[in-house]
Amino acid sequence: MNFARLRLVVSVVTTAMVTKAYSHDYGDALSKSILFFEGQRSGKLPPQQRVTWRKDSALLDGFQIGVDLVGGYYDAGDNLKFNFPMAFSTTLLAWSVLEFGEFMGPNLSDSLDAIRWATDYFLKATVVPGLVFVQVGDSYSDHDCWERPEDMDTLRTPYAVSKQFPGSEVSAEIAAALAASSIVFRPIDYQYSARLLNRARTVFNFADTYRGSYNDSLGPWVCPFYCDFSGYQDELLWGAAWLFKATKEPNYWNYVAENMHKLENYFVIGSCAEFGWDSKHAGINVLVSEQFVMGGTSNSNPFLRKADEFVCTVLPESPTVSVSYSPGGLMFKTGGSNLQHATALSFLLLVYARYLSHRNRVVHCGDVVATPSRLIQAARDQVDYILGSNPLNMSYMVGYGKKFPQRIHHRGSSLPSMDQHPERIDCKGGSPYYSSNNSNPNLHIGAVVGGPDINDSYSDSRVDFVHSEPTTYINAPLVGLLAYFKSHFYT
Ligand SMILES: *[C@@H]1O[C@H](CO)[C@@H](O)[C@H](O)[C@H]1NC(C)=O
Ligand SMILES: *[C@@H]1O[C@H](CO)[C@@H](O)[C@H](O)[C@H]1NC(C)=O
Ligand SMILES: *[C@@H]1O[C@H](CO)[C@@H](O)[C@H](O)[C@H]1NC(C)=O
Ligand SMILES: *[C@@H]1O[C@H](CO)[C@@H](O)[C@H](O)[C@H]1NC(C)=O
Ligand SMILES: *[C@@H]1O[C@H](CO)[C@@H](O)[C@H](O)[C@H]1NC(C)=O
Repeated sequence: MNFARLRLVVSVVTTAMVTKAYSHDYGDALSKSILFFEGQRSGKLPPQQRVTWRKDSALLDGFQIGVDLVGGYYDAGDNLKFNFPMAFSTTLLAWSVLEFGEFMGPNLSDSLDAIRWATDYFLKATVVPGLVFVQVGDSYSDHDCWERPEDMDTLRTPYAVSKQFPGSEVSAEIAAALAASSIVFRPIDYQYSARLLNRARTVFNFADTYRGSYNDSLGPWVCPFYCDFSGYQDELLWGAAWLFKATKEPNYWNYVAENMHKLENYFVIGSCAEFGWDSKHAGINVLVSEQFVMGGTSNSNPFLRKADEFVCTVLPESPTVSVSYSPGGLMFKTGGSNLQHATALSFLLLVYARYLSHRNRVVHCGDVVATPSRLIQAARDQVDYILGSNPLNMSYMVGYGKKFPQRIHHRGSSLPSMDQHPERIDCKGGSPYYSSNNSNPNLHIGAVVGGPDINDSYSDSRVDFVHSEPTTYINAPLVGLLAYFKSHFYT
């Protein structure tokens, strides 16, 4: 036995492993980030369902009023269908595919399935003229129980907005999701794409003609869960911008240009850096800036200026940075479920960086010059943090890496599956599982939780939903980010 050679082999292997520890397997994370959506499915599951601890659920949604509202996604760790954040997640999945679908490889078709699961549902939720369904399930009844979606017996009340009781924010976001998805499906399934686009037009028209916030009529049910804080002007502009992108019709463009000033009324300090299920501000500026950056129109237009300002409120070295960073480098904004900000804002940085690099532009934040590659690095730092490059060496994506959250705040994941425990577990029957210190029995692979606190600590406690609950809108922008990093940074 030649020990010298053996030692040499061992040391090569060790070096390879060390290198691996500092980079990430973005392809693995991408696949998992999409798989997560399968675990959030509501309705009748298809035979090819891979997340097999989940079964059919909520098969009678809407039937009490004669409308088929079966399908869609549970928003997070409960069994409710909140269409406002569901639509935002869908818009972001579609945007991920539009920008980065070419880098998804075999996982592109999985992303399309994830989008279609939502758009099929939105076609149902908008089928009755003059009504847009905005939620299924009573929040208080649901939150009072810890039950699997497969045997829940909580109130499945459907809620809708109408001409008389409008909800422009949720309707316009659904229009945005349908319009963005119509672009995705155009080369793949033209008929389906045309259906989505027609519906997007109708729903946008409804949202714009009957203006109002769903807070006013549905406040007691939608607040404090997905209350509309930022008003509905941003969704109207966002919806029109997506319709313009999908149709190239000047009337949608004029709508955006003419109503842009209305957004100013809602601008509060730091709102340039707002982008999530409630506020679309930064997203509008980045989305619309493509038109100018790519078209080479003057640099002085307001969208570009605001998109630049967005970059300067987010980059850590910018003199006008308004978001916070933990000592370990994670971006923080106020409000729960912090990783939603890290993924959504990083997504915008990456998208904007690519628009800028096509035009050889940079962003000036005072004396700091931010190049496209710097924006890409900043976005990658956030993704790397989430995947485990952080003081705890912990991944915040379930099933990715060696150490990840074990007790996520998620009913289905934390209760034994129907296969393991076919007997019904009723409302309060789930309580011992909720408060137990045991790891969740069902690995919700790809679920990204709310994340650590601002000191980079994480308690991994099911009860602490602010930090331990996954949501669809944390994952949706991550899908696009991971697709890009997978193909640009090999490990
Ligand atoms: C993504 O693609 C890989 C490689 O083909 C495959 O193994 C994986 O199952 C796919 N992920 C999903 C969520 O479909
Ligand atoms: C919706 O209700 C919340 C909580 O009551 C309030 O803070 C917010 O301003 C309301 N939004 C709109 C657009 O009325
Ligand atoms: C994380 O990994 C680094 C590098 O391997 C190591 O120095 C550090 O002690 C680890 N921290 C924890 C909390 O495990
Ligand atoms: C769970 O762990 C915490 C602290 O680690 C302890 O205080 C608590 O009693 C434990 N709960 C159960 C049900 O074991
Ligand atoms: C973070 O650490 C600082 C300083 O030690 C402390 O004042 C603050 O309360 C901590 N915050 C959290 C959320 O733990």
